[in-house]
Amino acid sequence: MANLKRFTGKTVIVTGGCRGIGLSIVERFANEGARVFALDYVIPESGTQLFDNEELNSLTSYLQADVTKEESVKAAIDEILKTNPKIEILVNNAGITRDNLVLRMTEADWDSVLSTNLKGAFICTKVLVRTMMAQRFGRIINIGSVVGTMGNIGQANYSASKAGLIGFTKSIAREFASRNILVNCVAPGYVRTPMTEKLSDDVKQNFMNSIPLKRLAEPSDIANVVCFFASDDASYLTGQLVHVDGGMAM
Ligand SMILES: NC(=O)c1ccc[n+]([C@@H]2O[C@H](COP(=O)([O-])OP(=O)(O)OC[C@H]3O[C@@H](n4cnc5c(N)ncnc54)[C@H](O)[C@@H]3O)[C@@H](O)[C@H]2O)c1
Repeated sequence: MANLKRFTGKTVIVTGGCRGIGLSIVERFANEGARVFALDYVIPESGTQLFDNEELNSLTSYLQADVTKEESVKAAIDEILKTNPKIEILVNNAGITRDNLVLRMTEADWDSVLSTNLKGAFICTKVLVRTMMAQRFGRIINIGSVVGTMGNIGQANYSASKAGLIGFTKSIAREFASRNILVNCVAPGYVRTPMTEKLSDDVKQNFMNSIPLKRLAEPSDIANVVCFFASDDASYLTGQLVHVDGGMAM
């Protein structure tokens, strides 16, 4: 990783930032000098310290919040605003899967996935965007998925939520462009995280067969592109979707 410090003085919120891709995004921003808050509904295994590293821990904090509940997100963001009056970057990363074939999928499985993956991004954006509008600066990066474009058997709820995020990204990119708030979507392919560890060997092998680069993504592969979108190098990009998928969805 290049030794850049592109985010010194910036405040970042990463939802679902306690593990997997979210934790890697938190780490990358902090390594580049940002003050980073991980919002998550579970308390990390390590307690409230996210890393085994004093410097990273001094730049990162964990706050408990459930992205599906506006009051919960608002309470966390109000807490952050007490010490950080500006919040420049939001990464809507929290996501869940409840996979099943449609004929076996329950309404509860449909609702919980749509609620976390799609409504959660709407709620966090709505709560934070006033602050971004007032400061006339904001970067919102939504974490989609390659299946939002390609579809996937057994993931009708999940792929619908991720396809919905693409429309959401483009709509709010248009809505907030005049306030210098840029909104983009990063859509990972198959990433090595706790979410994918629980997939069956068959499903894993099918994924591998469809990846031209013939390797899984590491969470840092996703964090690199998220940080690019948050950086000044991406200041003329909004409403864009980038697949970070080793070539799966070309
Ligand atoms: N892992 C992959 O291969 C992959 C591929 C494509 C897209 N994605 C997307 O990347 C994102 C991160 O995935 P991951 O693999 O790191 O998953 P993960 O399960 O390892 O981590 C997700 C985090 O989100 C948190 N979370 C879930 N619901 C929440 C809620 N209501 N409020 C607050 N926090 C909540 C969880 O506690 C967890 O810490 C998700 O949006 C996922 O859909 C992952």
